Amino acid sequence: MTEKIPADIKKEIEKLVKDLNYHCYRYYVLDSPVISDEEYDRLYFRLKELEDKYHSILPDSPTQRVGAPPLDKFEKVKHSEPMLSLDNAFSHDEVREFDKRVKRFLGSEKNIEYTVEPKYDGLAIELTYRDGLLFKASTRGDGYEGEDVTRNMRTIKSVPLKIESVSKVPNEIDIRGEVYMDIDEFEKLNREREKKGEPLFANPRNATAGSVRQLDPSITASRKLHLACYGIGAVKGMTFKSQKELIDWLKEARFPVPKMQVARGIDKVIDAIMELGANRGSLPFETDGAVIKVNDFDIQKKLGVKTREPRWAIAYKFAAHQETTKILDIQGSVGRTGVITPFAIFKPVRIGGVTVSRSTLHNWDEMERKDIKIGDTVLVERAGDVIPHVVTVIKENRTGKEEPFPIPKECPACGSKVVREEGEVAVRCISLHCPAQIQEKIIHFASRGGMDIEGLGEKNVELLYSKGLIKHFEDIYKLKKSNLLELPRFAEKSAQNLLEAIERSKNTTLAKFLFAIGILHVGEYGAKLLARNFKELKNLYHVKRNELVKIKQLGEKIASSISTFFNDEKNIKILKTLEDFGLKISNPDYASEKKEESPIEGLTFVITGTLPKPRKEVEDLIELHGGHVSSSVSASTDYLVIGEEPGSKLQKAKALGVKTISYNELLKIIEQ
Ligand code: IVH
Repeated sequence: MTEKIPADIKKEIEKLVKDLNYHCYRYYVLDSPVISDEEYDRLYFRLKELEDKYHSILPDSPTQRVGAPPLDKFEKVKHSEPMLSLDNAFSHDEVREFDKRVKRFLGSEKNIEYTVEPKYDGLAIELTYRDGLLFKASTRGDGYEGEDVTRNMRTIKSVPLKIESVSKVPNEIDIRGEVYMDIDEFEKLNREREKKGEPLFANPRNATAGSVRQLDPSITASRKLHLACYGIGAVKGMTFKSQKELIDWLKEARFPVPKMQVARGIDKVIDAIMELGANRGSLPFETDGAVIKVNDFDIQKKLGVKTREPRWAIAYKFAAHQETTKILDIQGSVGRTGVITPFAIFKPVRIGGVTVSRSTLHNWDEMERKDIKIGDTVLVERAGDVIPHVVTVIKENRTGKEEPFPIPKECPACGSKVVREEGEVAVRCISLHCPAQIQEKIIHFASRGGMDIEGLGEKNVELLYSKGLIKHFEDIYKLKKSNLLELPRFAEKSAQNLLEAIERSKNTTLAKFLFAIGILHVGEYGAKLLARNFKELKNLYHVKRNELVKIKQLGEKIASSISTFFNDEKNIKILKTLEDFGLKISNPDYASEKKEESPIEGLTFVITGTLPKPRKEVEDLIELHGGHVSSSVSASTDYLVIGEEPGSKLQKAKALGVKTISYNELLKIIEQ
């Protein structure tokens, strides 16, 4: 029976909630607590005790930040106003161009007042408050519709559960910002994941997205995430005049906000972005640029939006971080298709706040082109979310003792003979018994984009393989708890967790499954195409090459590889065995045909400079999505994809007004 709540207890609960929320704000937003952790805990447990006893929980009670059970899937949320993206500027000249465009559009020569804020490299979030209470939190998604991550965002202590402490609270307001992770926290998380044999996050942004887009809010709660609020969507019952006024109000309402500068005229803006750039190394988080916004909201409204980007804002991208270090060794690693990739082991070096100790050298052609040797001093670069790479060798530092790393004659993993086919850049081990390839295939099968078996990463696969428990990926479904308990890394709970993750993986989609089984040249996009066109797995059995090439986006090479795979009886037998283990393969996105147009269908791309992925792979990707790749820039080029050391094509594109994008932006467009 619930006890009736006496008036003094009601008051005490209200006061505890208010005080605890204030202390949370002091600790997590201002980083300046006024009580000890013990005192906080004492207040918290008193509140919990009263809430349990009287079953009286206020909606903004701090006890409501934890405890939500995991979900099966995320609900979709429509944004009241689209969440836009930003156009980029890569140089001061391009920032000046932006200012000129603004003035031209307004028909005025007068100096414009701008705001300058750091650009957070995290996950964009919308927080909707109704009558002052946090009602919904959603991801950006495609800008129009995102995922409901309310329960996860509640666990982030700097997210206010209630808007108070301001004189005016709007009836409804969408507050927008970025969730991000500090670099130290990202590195700590990866160290822990490495120990557990889980896949590592490539950068703080991926780690943040992986932490927020979690069906289990307790995982989000366990990661130290921050928030910075920099904008709004729909508002009812209140108006703001400018970005400055908005940020001031957000600050007063106890939201964490970016450090913002107001700058009148473009010269002052450039001073502000240079200052931000000079200080970015000392910030605890990753910032890849500065966001410049027209301060006055009326002027913003006049300028409006072109397709998906506002005319009133631009993101200035900082140049990549570079440092020099020494190559201690070069080794070859064997991938799941047998390709041997050389990688450099560096004397560890901190680049833009992240410790870098190795990087791929891509292939031997690339290594020869850059003349990279063991013992060389090299310039290494890290740009935002791009994996680190060697820019150049510092030849002046050579002593003559440097050693080249020639193409190995034997596979570094199994000692079999290595082949390099005519005209191919890749060097391969073609042994069917190569343990490195088999393990990589299993890791790939269990990876997030594949069967998504949490806990079956590199370390655990290595262990299970070495003990002979998994020889092929289908053996995963034969694992028993008793097998796992015999191993050093497993105890009751971890064994149970892994078995549950394996069980969960049995409900999958056709696209994920086709990706997981690792057909040569079939990546996530290729797998989606097959799922869309073939609907069910059995329709692919014994598929003919000429049937596959009818799919416009599939190249000849991919078609051959798919047909070889599905005409091999041994492969079909493995797939059937997997189905016998109780795999349920659905095809929710493409079962009933609703052909989505690819966002790059029919568009023409030109590539210049070195991209983070081999050129051929990028070309295949574009073509797979219905785009064309041309070798020269003309007025009919839609996009120039620029990599490192871009050639003269960049000048030509600029002269012709062709839009330039980075490799990552290309991926973003395709993902839309
Ligand atoms: S303003 C239309 N301000 O960058 C206004 N965005 O590349 C768009 N971002 O989608 C948002 N820091 O997720 C704004 N200080 C900042 C930002 C910021 C990071 C993100 C945001 C946006 C993306 C565009």
